[in-house]
Amino acid sequence: MDQTLLKIIRLYKASFNIKLFLLLRNLHLSYNRVESLVPRNGLIIDLGCGYGLFPNLLAYKSPERNIIGIELSKRKIKYADVGFTNTEFVNEDIQQLEIVDCDTIVLVHVLHHLPSFESQEKLLMECYEKLRKGARIIVVEIDLRPLCKFWFTKFIDHVLYFGDKFYFRNQEQTRELLSKTGYRAVNSFPFHEYSMLSHFVCTGIK
Ligand SMILES: C[S@@+](CC[C@H](N)C(=O)[O-])C[C@H]1O[C@@H](n2cnc3c(N)ncnc32)[C@H](O)[C@@H]1O
Repeated sequence: MDQTLLKIIRLYKASFNIKLFLLLRNLHLSYNRVESLVPRNGLIIDLGCGYGLFPNLLAYKSPERNIIGIELSKRKIKYADVGFTNTEFVNEDIQQLEIVDCDTIVLVHVLHHLPSFESQEKLLMECYEKLRKGARIIVVEIDLRPLCKFWFTKFIDHVLYFGDKFYFRNQEQTRELLSKTGYRAVNSFPFHEYSMLSHFVCTGIK
């Protein structure tokens, strides 16, 4: 287990269960590898940041980054601020919110939680408008293949978000959507070699 993440998780004023959840989450999704895709400076917005582990990692790894984490769940976001001065956390619905002009937008496992495919399109358009020219969007999502990993991911989502509906797009569909929205240099790659969940990463530049 990565020492940096352990150090950050120890800073959380949260129950053992939440800390364990954060540890397990990182075992399935290497936040460090996603972090390496994020520029070392500028304003970064993490939409749907959950407990804020990823924004905190971004902040810890580079003080020249300023990170705003936005999350709908009050229950999660109340733990997110662990004391890094270059982070800010906001309890808001990313579908209602006016995103401020920024240098990078990150969405880690959030798009498929939005209430429709149309709302995903609308949000990506809003992100495009608010990104500065040359800035990057980084989307981490769930692929529909390998099938066993996809079913396992769905099962976990149904347990954690009981009663919700999910709107998954595969890698190709996500690339197409980013291109259609106007992003250039759209790229994607599988991100699940050491995971039981079928993650992929898709990036684009304004
Ligand atoms: C699977 S979790 C991922 C959390 C975080 N990005 C991470 O990597 O751990 C999806 C998160 O998106 C949040 N979310 C879903 N819809 C949202 C919305 N409309 N506005 C803000 N957050 C939202 C959920 O509350 C949840 O915390």
